[in-house]
Amino acid sequence: MTLKKLLRSIKKEAKLLRRVVYHRLFINPKLEEDIVNQFTKLYFHSYIFDKVPRWLGVPAIKCPLDLWIYQEIIFEVRPDVIIECGTADGGSAYFLASMCDLVNNGRVITIDIKGGKDRPEHKRIRWLVGSSISGETVDQVKKLIRDTDNIMVILDSDHRKEHVLNELRIYSKLVTQGSYIIVEDTIVNGHPILPDFGPGPMEAVEEFLKGNSDFSIDKNRERFYLTFNPRGYLRREK
Ligand SMILES: C[S@@+](CC[C@H](N)C(=O)[O-])C[C@H]1O[C@@H](n2cnc3c(N)ncnc32)[C@H](O)[C@@H]1O
Repeated sequence: MTLKKLLRSIKKEAKLLRRVVYHRLFINPKLEEDIVNQFTKLYFHSYIFDKVPRWLGVPAIKCPLDLWIYQEIIFEVRPDVIIECGTADGGSAYFLASMCDLVNNGRVITIDIKGGKDRPEHKRIRWLVGSSISGETVDQVKKLIRDTDNIMVILDSDHRKEHVLNELRIYSKLVTQGSYIIVEDTIVNGHPILPDFGPGPMEAVEEFLKGNSDFSIDKNRERFYLTFNPRGYLRREK
């Protein structure tokens, strides 16, 4: 490394350090946590005022910052198949298919217990109707994937702990190394919203990870502070 390059790199590091120090002087970790929790509550509850984000006109019941993270994961992992449990209006499946268009790779299999008539049309999306944990649905999914496919999974259906844990146990087996199983809405049951929800996705993740070294929580995917999926971005390590 030349002296000029070394000096440039030291200057860059010093600038970064100065920013970190400023950040910590004005926003200590406790204040940071309070702000994030308060804003998560404000943002989540604003949904009742019809503030649901739309992707190309279709409601997607997601935090837009999480959708940005999805885009980053799709670009990095380049999944051949994205399995989504919980379709609703189809906005998130439509978003995922659009990202697949942009990277020119991938298909979306989306599952919902209810059928829907006004869901968007897209050649990359396969709509399945049935419970995500029924043997019949799982068989259908398995028939639609190949052994060589790079697979990513998103769990956004019934948010009760037992259901999510079942989904985790079933679908984690399909996730390929370096890819993700994303557990949506770990914020419920007081983390920090809906304190009376009862055990939900966060508790399912905790139990799933006990003694499981195949997956780890990727905290970097929470770096925009506001996320509906804290501790929910699970990366397959091996
Ligand atoms: C939170 S919404 C999905 C939102 C959608 N992913 C989006 O971002 O726009 C949850 C959906 O899960 C579906 N659901 C509930 N229980 C289910 C189950 N056992 N299997 C599959 N889907 C289920 C509901 O019908 C509902 O449409």
